[in-house]
Amino acid sequence: MAGLTAAGMAATGIIPSVEAAAWDRKSKELFGPRQKGHFTLLQLTSVTDTIGNSYILQTKGGKVIVIDGGFATEQDNLRARIAAVGNHVDLWFITHPHQDHMGAFNEILKDRRGMTIDKLIYSRVPDEFLDREPVNAADARSYYKTIDSVTEGIDILDLHTTGGRFDIDGIGIMVLGVANPELTMNPYNNQSMIIRFWDDTKSVVILGDAGIECGNKCLAKYGEQLNCDYMQMAHHGQNGCSESFYKAVKFRVCLWPTPSWVWEPAPQHTHLKTRDTRRWMDEKGIQEHHASCVEKDWFLA
Ligand SMILES: [Fe+2]
Repeated sequence: MAGLTAAGMAATGIIPSVEAAAWDRKSKELFGPRQKGHFTLLQLTSVTDTIGNSYILQTKGGKVIVIDGGFATEQDNLRARIAAVGNHVDLWFITHPHQDHMGAFNEILKDRRGMTIDKLIYSRVPDEFLDREPVNAADARSYYKTIDSVTEGIDILDLHTTGGRFDIDGIGIMVLGVANPELTMNPYNNQSMIIRFWDDTKSVVILGDAGIECGNKCLAKYGEQLNCDYMQMAHHGQNGCSESFYKAVKFRVCLWPTPSWVWEPAPQHTHLKTRDTRRWMDEKGIQEHHASCVEKDWFLA
């Protein structure tokens, strides 16, 4: 946690002020001096009530960072939202090569319609790995082909090491997870990047679609550096990280990039485990939730 995280938690009575003060000191050890900048965060709602991750972060100085962007079918809405903040993206993160994360981005790259993008950070999965999920391999290869062919003018960072820190306009960014090709179960989801953002008052961790193994690997390496105010629930809030992961990491607010049919699964959809995750959060004492299907285009100021 960074900045006022602990103080904010103390103010809400979630943790006692003595513990908050101790955590503020710990936070300084883990993340350095308090960041000077400030960001807003928009969690986009799917216009078609489909699954997907889509976030737009904007710094006080006007820098724009996009995380994923949803399916190709979300591109018009995403374009409009980016246009509304200047039609320029300073940094775009794509967590992993599933359509519901890179689909809109893939289409925008091919036809930017005036949008400019300075930098892309992603973590490429080896080509031979893609066949571990045959139903998604063609889409992933199409996305990589786009990156290889129509990204002129974009600085591309294919990141394969964790722990790297960026400071953009006073915003702290730390990459805690990159592709894990040794994790062959739940293959694409376990390649998700995990990214921490923090400013002078709050911190957000993006888990992407991290599966159990991906989450546990990150937890084993980074432990308390996963603690945050706002946690994006892995894999749209179900069948993502484990209960033990969520028990081990401290956070106070859940962000759910979740369509209505996953948020409240129909009785016959027993494969959707959202209710389990929601129960874990209740048992953890989380009282603040923001689901993209419930709060349209939720905005964190
Ligand atoms: Fe997803």
